[in-house]
Amino acid sequence: MISSPLMTVMVDAARKAARGLKRDFGEVENLQVSRKGPGDFVSAADRKAEEVVRDALLKARPGYGMILEEGGTIEGTDKSHTWHVDPLDGTTNFLHGIPHFAVSIGLEREGQIVAGVIYDPIKDELFVAERGKGAYLNNRRLRVAARTDMTDAVAGYGTPYLGKGSHQVLLRELGAVMAVAGGTRRIGSAALDLASVACGRLDVYWERDLKTWDMAAGIIMVREAGGFVTSADGASEPLAARSIACGNEVLHRELVAILRKANA
Ligand code: IPD
Ligand code: CA
Ligand code: CA
Repeated sequence: MISSPLMTVMVDAARKAARGLKRDFGEVENLQVSRKGPGDFVSAADRKAEEVVRDALLKARPGYGMILEEGGTIEGTDKSHTWHVDPLDGTTNFLHGIPHFAVSIGLEREGQIVAGVIYDPIKDELFVAERGKGAYLNNRRLRVAARTDMTDAVAGYGTPYLGKGSHQVLLRELGAVMAVAGGTRRIGSAALDLASVACGRLDVYWERDLKTWDMAAGIIMVREAGGFVTSADGASEPLAARSIACGNEVLHRELVAILRKANA
């Protein structure tokens, strides 16, 4: 486990927000049968969780800037630090009563992600990583999976929301990956997909049209677990490119080559 003051701040904020989310998730199951559905209730739960994270981080590090999914950007006086916060990653899962979602908090310092926390309150799984200090799931040090044969690999991916991103591109890429990978999964939380690569459950993962708060914490998680992370085209940093591809060195290289070929 990492016991730095920074980690304590991030973990406390994530756990606090997650407590409310877990409570609200219980209620969502009851609302499925109502005509109106749980949409408004979930939006309120999402906003509440974000306020909890925002207030905790602002209290602990008043000068840092913040990029929040719901609340936009808060300019900090300390220009070298920015939080990237997704209070509820996996909203569609949450809305439909599928127990797979997380709070995700990443810290950017001078353009680099240096710390990340991803907390899944349903499984009580806390993923943490800090630059140079490793990545952990609860108290276990993480390593990406060692498989080097794509035919044994399980590949995670993301599907763009209707009206956002290109389904055509995804179908091309997915077809190409399905033709060579052992299995494919669309699990529905980018943060947990990245955490899953960090802990070796998924061998590779790629997705396009992501936002910085979806990826920030997960990027450092995979890197500190010994994995390789780039944009989906393999050439740049994911945060700037808004897309991601990751895995161990061998399978990351192969994944990027497959995606390139699919789009050629
Ligand atoms: C979404 C999830 C999903 C990914 C989407 C994201 P949200 O975040 O991470 O897995 O495919 O692109 O927008 O909306 O649940 O916070
Ligand atoms: Ca998200
Ligand atoms: Ca979200």
